[in-house]
Order: sequence, then structure tokens, then C-alpha cells
Amino acid sequence: MTLLAAIDDVGRDRKRGGYSRHVFEPAERQLREWFVEEAQRRDMAVRCDRNGNLWAWWGEPGPDAIVTGSHLDSVPGGGAFDGPLGVTSALEAVDTLRANGFTPVRPLAIVVFAEEEGGRFGVPCLGSRLLTGAIDPDAARRLHDLTGVSFAEAAVEAGLDPARIGRDDEAIANIGTFVELHVEQGRGLIDLGAPVGVASSILAHGRWRFTFTGEGNHAGATLLGDRRDPMVPAAEMVLAARIAASEVDDARATVGRLVPNPGGTNVIASTVDVWLDARADNDPDTRQVVTRIQELATDAAARENCELNVVEESYGGTVVFDAGLRDTVSSALGGVPALPTGAGHDAGILAAHVPTAMLFVRNPTGVSHAPEEHAEPDDCQAGVAALATVLGRLAG
Ligand code: GLV
Ligand code: MN
Ligand code: MN
Repeated sequence: MTLLAAIDDVGRDRKRGGYSRHVFEPAERQLREWFVEEAQRRDMAVRCDRNGNLWAWWGEPGPDAIVTGSHLDSVPGGGAFDGPLGVTSALEAVDTLRANGFTPVRPLAIVVFAEEEGGRFGVPCLGSRLLTGAIDPDAARRLHDLTGVSFAEAAVEAGLDPARIGRDDEAIANIGTFVELHVEQGRGLIDLGAPVGVASSILAHGRWRFTFTGEGNHAGATLLGDRRDPMVPAAEMVLAARIAASEVDDARATVGRLVPNPGGTNVIASTVDVWLDARADNDPDTRQVVTRIQELATDAAARENCELNVVEESYGGTVVFDAGLRDTVSSALGGVPALPTGAGHDAGILAAHVPTAMLFVRNPTGVSHAPEEHAEPDDCQAGVAALATVLGRLAG
């Protein structure tokens, strides 16, 4: 049984399909425990850092380590590969290196980052952002999940001290190079006919929460002219996102989550929260899309006599991966293709601090963040072999 098959049953979402493995909730905690056992089975010493990221070490922790890994949390109803493939491939790459009699000259570590998807607390790559100081610890402590639990409270429950979360210079100093393997989240490798590729760049992207406030009231007794229904401008904002993104080359804007409060069929909502995910090639283009959506949403709110408040919950500029490392990785693998991605990754956060590379494994459906996300066993094996080659080259 492959390692990925061993966790096949953990966190299945019977309602949405796929997996819901949210940070520090039972399924993700079960996966963390599974990871610790697998690492210890390989005589790797495991520790959890101040920010909830797990580190498994082959060799003494120390500067200039070669670090690989990914995450075990998922989006709601996500696929089996986004995150876990990078973790299981890392463990299997260690097996491959050992089977080949390899001993690393530089320490080698596998990391599991916490809350990469932001599926529970809203901010993606929260573990790597905290580690690198890309988010203010106070802001992180204040984040809430949908049931009102704060990140600080969840951290306590997970055995962390929320007072100690934040930038971890020692952990950063230990990372000489970071390499994350990930299932591809598009059709690039299908079109190129290649099982494995290397990342060139990540789009500039962020998340914004638009809160429309109107007046809660009765769906039957309130005349249309008397309403201040925040769902109406919220609906217009969904369309505004499509319009604004289509005005900018290669931009994407998505409303994947919309929450009316209180959310009753016969109730005019008093507020509606609409989460926007916007991405484009560069900062100005991404900002232009968001500004345009905000203008259209402001007009729509005014027409319905509602208020609009917009909060930027996370943002990251375009990431261009270290070209020298990318070329080293590609040529170590016999010249695999380099391709950009529209998806965010912990590797994108780390790239601002250490030389970072990503390997992608072909996804024959081209679908991700959905149960149809897939990678064929042969391609997963090619990914493990590629990762082992790269780690061996870098750590040897
Ligand atoms: C994570 O996969 C993201 O791109 O949001
Ligand atoms: Mn993802
Ligand atoms: Mn991922």
C-alpha cells in the first residue's frame, strides 16, 4: 500500500464529497499523528514549532538544511492530493534515498505546514506566514473560524502557546533550500505530455471579505420598496467579480463563499459576508481587479441603501522562483518543463526568504480543490523519484 492510500479514509466529507481536513480539527490532527509515526518509523526526530508546523529531521537540525514537505489540511470538500502528495512523496523519497545507500551531507527535513488552505481561519499559508513574519501574530490570534473559535483558542487546544506564535528566525535560518512537491492544479503537464515539471512562478493573489449590511426583516411582510436587502448587492458583486476579471488579461476573480446572517429562507438577511479571491499576473493587475469590484459593489450597495465594508484578509505578490535553483532542478531531472501556477503555496511564502523550488506532478483531470483532483500511481512514482533525485543532489 502506498502512503497516500494509508490515509485514504481520514477526513472524508460525506456531505460535500472529497475531504475536509481543517487545521487542528480531528481529521487533520489524525493526519499529523500519522505523519509523526511515519517519520519516527524512519528514525527521524519530529518536533512541532511554535507555529504548529511539524518538522521531521534526518540528521541534526541545523543551518543549511534541505527541506521538503507540504501540508495535510484541505479546502472544504477537497481532493486527496493537494498537500498530502507532497508529504507522502517526501517520506517515500527518504525511503528511496536510503534504499540507494545515500547519506545526506547537509541535514534533510520534512515539514508539514499548518493551515495552508486557510480553510478554517481564512488566511492561507498561515503556518508559513507566521514562521516568516508575513502576518502579525496579533492578527493571527484574532482570526476566527465559522463557529467563532479563535486561532488562539484552537492553538491552545492543539498544544501550542498562542503567546509564542510568530516569526521564528531560528527555523528560517535552518532552511538552506526548500523544495515542495505538489499535484499540478491545472492542465499544463497534460498539454506538455510530461509526468513531472518544475514551477516558474505564482500569480499575485489575495482574499478580501466584503460585508454588506442592510436590515433584517420578514420575507413576506416587507414590501420591496421598504427593503434594505444585503443579498441584492452581494449577488451583484458576484457578477462584478466576473466582469472585473474579464477586463484584465489572465486575471481570475472568484466568490466561493457567501454567508448571509442569519440565513433563513423566510428572512431578509441583516448582513451578508462575501469572500473574494482575486489573482492576476502582477500586483497592479490584481489591485485593478479588486478596485473595480469594490467600485461596482459600492454602487450596488448604495442602490439598495446598504453599507459595505471591505477587509483585505491576505495578500501575496507575484512569486518568481529562484531561476538558478529551478534550472538546477530541471536539469537534474533531465530537463523537465517549467510552468507557472495560479495556485498559492507555502513555497511561495518561503521564496521571499530562502532559495525555493516546486515540483509538479501531472493531474489528468486538471481539476483541483474538488474531489476529481487526481494523479496516476505511475506519475506519483515519477514524482517520488524526481524528488529523491533533487534532494540527493542538493543534500549530497
Ligand atoms: C491554495 O491552494 C490556493 O491557491 O488558494
Ligand atoms: Mn490548495
Ligand atoms: Mn496545496
